[in-house]
Amino acid sequence: MSAEDPTLTTDGSKTLGSKKLGVVATGVIGGGWAVRALSRGWDVVAWDPAPDAEAKLRDYIERAWPSVVELGLFEGADPSRVTFVDTPQEVAEAADWIQTSAPENEAIKIDLLTKVAAAAPQETVIASSSSGLLPSRLQADLRFPERFVIGHPFNPVYLLPLVEIVPGELTSIETVDRARAHYDDLVMHPLVVRKEIEGYISDRLQEALWREILHMVNEGVATTEELDDAIAYGPGLRWAGMGTNLTFHLAGGQGGMRHMLAQFGPALKLPWTKLEAPELTDTLIDDMATGCEAQADGRSIDELERLRDDYVIAVMKALEPIGLGAGEIQARREARIASAS
Ligand SMILES: NC(=O)c1ccc[n+]([C@@H]2O[C@H](COP(=O)([O-])OP(=O)(O)OC[C@H]3O[C@@H](n4cnc5c(N)ncnc54)[C@H](O)[C@@H]3O)[C@@H](O)[C@H]2O)c1
Repeated sequence: MSAEDPTLTTDGSKTLGSKKLGVVATGVIGGGWAVRALSRGWDVVAWDPAPDAEAKLRDYIERAWPSVVELGLFEGADPSRVTFVDTPQEVAEAADWIQTSAPENEAIKIDLLTKVAAAAPQETVIASSSSGLLPSRLQADLRFPERFVIGHPFNPVYLLPLVEIVPGELTSIETVDRARAHYDDLVMHPLVVRKEIEGYISDRLQEALWREILHMVNEGVATTEELDDAIAYGPGLRWAGMGTNLTFHLAGGQGGMRHMLAQFGPALKLPWTKLEAPELTDTLIDDMATGCEAQADGRSIDELERLRDDYVIAVMKALEPIGLGAGEIQARREARIASAS
């Protein structure tokens, strides 16, 4: 097992050397972790209970590989550096870092984490990709719970740099530091969530928007396509570089955020937004699904994924010379690849 120096963090050039990433459960997110690690020049050891999981993972890696080639590969990057094993315990024994991505169900996750923690050496960090479960509940009965942490990524994991690090009550400071260094080494943007809350930070924001979408479709206010246009042609372009707060600071003119709050404060008190999701009736589910299928316009999920990857890469590269958001991460990736070669 390679040694890891937790003191190494973001510096624009240093990296931590080669590692073996343990990927437990290889669905959409586990597969994404595998591709990110392989493109970083690491090995991957993986397990998933589905009978056709290995073939699916290899297919996933093949489909995603052109995207990471476009972003830039590290020395040693090789899509075939994957070993698929028969049990989660074998992953736990072989890996330098374990990233678990089982279905979002507390009982399933605890059962799996218990097996992994029983087999993993004490110094191996065990991370969960959960989108919103409380880490304190997941880690409570694990062996060496102090080395457990949430590392919540965003799909596609091999492109999007954000990862939320959420420590539980028993997670050690050392584990949080190691998580920062680990995800930084994977050329990500680690965001430590200070306070353990369900849904963490980013999904709370995304879900707030999604709930309003469901209400507006339910009430016949707009179609799924119109609601997507309402983001893609406007706020979405601003969000990629500046997020909501800095964007609104500018929308307030010279008065900045103070003026924005004075101007729109009264409207914020009006019940424009509903907070609670509407009932997911069959009609609403149909309206959402058929709306998205119409937007897909005959294109398969594979084709749409390719399109999504292409524009995400284009946005990251466009932001690079401006040094904003994900552009700064892309610059870091290129600097590290150059300094290593
Ligand atoms: N899809 C997303 O956009 C997204 C984003 C961030 C985080 N997550 C989180 O990542 C995790 C995985 O989500 P996903 O989208 O990859 O789901 P998925 O359905 O694509 O993959 C889940 C995988 O888990 C395997 N599995 C099923 N039962 C299992 C068990 N008992 N033990 C171990 N593995 C089992 C399945 O075979 C499958 O390969 C969830 O916690 C989810 O909340 C998802």
